[in-house]
Amino acid sequence: MSDFDHKPVMLAEVLGALAPKPGGVYADGTLGGGGHARAILEASAPSGRLYGGDRDATAMEAAGERLREFAGRVELRRGNFADLADWVPSGSCDGVLLDLGVSSPQLDAAARGFSFQADGPLDMRMDRGQDLTAAELVNGLEVEALAKIFWEWGGERASRPLARAIAQRRQERPLARTSELAELIERVTPRHGKRAHPATKVFQALRIAVNDEIGSLEKGLAGALGLLKPGGRLVLITFHSLEDRIVKNFGRIRARDYRVAGEVDIPELREPRAPEVRWITRKAVKPGEAELAENPRSRSAQMRVMEKV
Ligand SMILES: C[S@@+](CC[C@H](N)C(=O)[O-])C[C@H]1O[C@@H](n2cnc3c(N)ncnc32)[C@H](O)[C@@H]1O
Repeated sequence: MSDFDHKPVMLAEVLGALAPKPGGVYADGTLGGGGHARAILEASAPSGRLYGGDRDATAMEAAGERLREFAGRVELRRGNFADLADWVPSGSCDGVLLDLGVSSPQLDAAARGFSFQADGPLDMRMDRGQDLTAAELVNGLEVEALAKIFWEWGGERASRPLARAIAQRRQERPLARTSELAELIERVTPRHGKRAHPATKVFQALRIAVNDEIGSLEKGLAGALGLLKPGGRLVLITFHSLEDRIVKNFGRIRARDYRVAGEVDIPELREPRAPEVRWITRKAVKPGEAELAENPRSRSAQMRVMEKV
């Protein structure tokens, strides 16, 4: 076993939604340590197949090891799930899973630079082959652009004062370490009894920006729908409200029995059409008490499921 230890979240709920069966075909665009993928392959034995991908080379290595015994039934490729449709045949899948965000091993490895709790380089790339890092954003963006990222993708109220403080600080010397950024944020916006660390939102926002998480999700959802057979299910696990809103809107629009002609939805101008999906769980499903107690990192997870019509 590798030391890539990530507990798959809401495993029972995911299996319940996908109902893997022998002969079924599945795609997991966020393999991570391969926990969900393994359970899907076990539940669809002896003949279920799985296409699996992840942007992170370390995750691919761990998942490859974990899924080795299913060699004849899996096809794995490193890459962004936004590009799944480039290699997974369209209309081939009974189920597609996207379990978004970062994995515990990514968060815990200080050298990856995702965490404000461990000192590391300001990196935050899931795909270490990519050029853009958090350090480049923090040291290179204009104050307004930086504040926009903090506000839009972190919901950080002190986005402007923080961006200004960063710009001032980097005139002396570029920010290079996660601890330098976390300390600066704590100085500008002290904790004052708050539960979350004051750097939580800025770190989330930078991670989203570095990895183009919103763009990937929007493209990935449309692509994933194209991979499904009619009756196939799309299972989405999100970890913050921005992601969840995108998933919710995607499902809402695709479940409509009409198309909106212009920018605004004017009932008289609606064009009827067949819905593309139906909701299986319109309301988000959250982890149960037992899972929350066992895996505190699951606390912000929410699952939504839709079925292709
Ligand atoms: C929460 S973990 C998945 C854990 C996995 N389900 C398991 O059972 O171990 C999220 C994974 O998604 C990957 N990821 C996030 N965004 C991605 C994207 N746009 N394309 C491909 N992989 C992505 C991350 O690298 C990470 O390994």
